Amino acid sequence: MQIVIGNVLSTEELRRVRAALARARFVDGAATAGFAARLVKNNRQAEASDRSLGTIRKLVAERVLANEVFRLAVRPKALSPLLFSRYQKGMRYGSHVDDALMDGMRTDVSFTLFLSEPKSYDGGELAIEGVSGEETFKLDAGALVAYSATSLHHVSEVTRGARLAAVGWVRSFVRDPARRELLFDLDTARRQMFAREGKSTEFDLVSKSLANLLRMWVED
Ligand code: NI
Repeated sequence: MQIVIGNVLSTEELRRVRAALARARFVDGAATAGFAARLVKNNRQAEASDRSLGTIRKLVAERVLANEVFRLAVRPKALSPLLFSRYQKGMRYGSHVDDALMDGMRTDVSFTLFLSEPKSYDGGELAIEGVSGEETFKLDAGALVAYSATSLHHVSEVTRGARLAAVGWVRSFVRDPARRELLFDLDTARRQMFAREGKSTEFDLVSKSLANLLRMWVED
């Protein structure tokens, strides 16, 4: 399941993040790619050791983790340190799968938070490759797409302007994407039921089922 979530960052927060990145030192992104992904990765990343980025890295992580839709769809247990990437004209990231382990953490969900206004650059779509074809995403600044880390994906070439993004990985309490989707649907339906009819007997039964499915599937 892919999920798009808008307005994860406010306009003011976006301004702060972009201002910090304008001062940051960007290095070749291939340094953090595996031996095969390195062959197709052509972008720049803010230097991981850049201490001045600590504040915005923390801000973005907090906003992502505090987002209710993200919490329901992804069930995050832990987040890897965020990467800030920049693609300029001619840069792309070919088809690859993300590493299963990052800093000793299993990666279940990947996400890209778009930081540049889509009108400010051409190309740079994130494409997620499925058995029935590709789904492409080029979102408003401040919006993110979260998708299963198990999938092949790529970023198409930027042909004008620059594409800034924050990318991250999540260890989920629920490892299986199909189970996460089922829990998300059930939880969403339960909340809508509550909004419509309050704490009814049916709401209580669905809540009980959801809680007990979680108990069956959660790895805490
Ligand atoms: Ni990737």
